[in-house]
Amino acid sequence: MKVTVIGAGTMGNGIAQVFAQGGNEVVLTDIVEPVLEKARDTIANSLERLSKKGLISETPDQVKRRITFTKSIDDGAGSDIYVEAIVEKVELKKDILQKINEMANEDSIIATNTSSISINYLSGFVKHPENFLGMHFFNPPPVMKLIEIVTGVRTSKKAVEKIQEISKDLGKEPVVVKDYPGFVANRVLMPLLREAIVAYEEGVASKEDIDKTVKLGLNHPMGPLELADFVGLDVTYDVMKVLYDEFGDPRYKPPITLRNMVNAGLLGRKTGEGFYKY
Ligand code: 3HC
Repeated sequence: MKVTVIGAGTMGNGIAQVFAQGGNEVVLTDIVEPVLEKARDTIANSLERLSKKGLISETPDQVKRRITFTKSIDDGAGSDIYVEAIVEKVELKKDILQKINEMANEDSIIATNTSSISINYLSGFVKHPENFLGMHFFNPPPVMKLIEIVTGVRTSKKAVEKIQEISKDLGKEPVVVKDYPGFVANRVLMPLLREAIVAYEEGVASKEDIDKTVKLGLNHPMGPLELADFVGLDVTYDVMKVLYDEFGDPRYKPPITLRNMVNAGLLGRKTGEGFYKY
């Protein structure tokens, strides 16, 4: 299959890698050259790690050869699947989806990796909403097993079944969820991250001890503050805002500390500083 991934940031490059590992020809496109360069390095590093552990049957070079890194989205013309993985800005997503309409085949599947925007709302920008759905990967995509397949009101059963099958072929475990704010994973995760940030604001314990408590006491691989840094504080804030706006429930209310950090450009690992320095 030919697969085009739009957006080569944290999620996009990992998604492109997963499809390439699955034997697909992948076009990875981004308008920012340094983002593409960084994606190339990230993918190379990740493939080396997987190869050393014997988790891929091919060499990293064989997988990399199937990925075309390009600034030109037009290189994705005629793809079987499009995965939009750009920033969570509706206007930008609208432009990309309209561009995909011009390049896609009648039966191409158009997926979005959005973690916070309504699939039904975005489906208004695609020519064939029956072929449109959410394909929500988790960070880091090459390691995390889950894919949330998010269905809109107009998504066809055929498209869902196709993406379920493809997800399994990629070595992932799909779950099918409805278009509700935060879907399932973020709806459950965000109150945890929020509560940890509020506990930190209240001085209940140091940030290290809050993380240690959840890691060692609840057996999570990362503490919640560390995880918020890993996901990106901007993404965490955006998702909480959507949950709070749509459910109106204070358990989702973004903490002021989080807002201040985002406004100050402390976005976590990707900017070198969040709750921790990297
Ligand atoms: N590519 C390939 N392999 C990788 C990798 C990558 N990008 N990242 C980590 N690994 C491998 C490492 O090689 C290592 O393998 P080993 O244990 O066999 O040697 C293993 O994964 C563990 O990695 P590290 O030792 O470097 O570090 P950690 O033990 O901290 O693991 C982690 C890293 C897998 C990210 C783990 O900490 C983890 O699972 N954290 C939680 C991640 C999580 O919850 N993600 C979901 C976030 S929510 C989201 O994405 C949704 C969005 O909408 C907000």
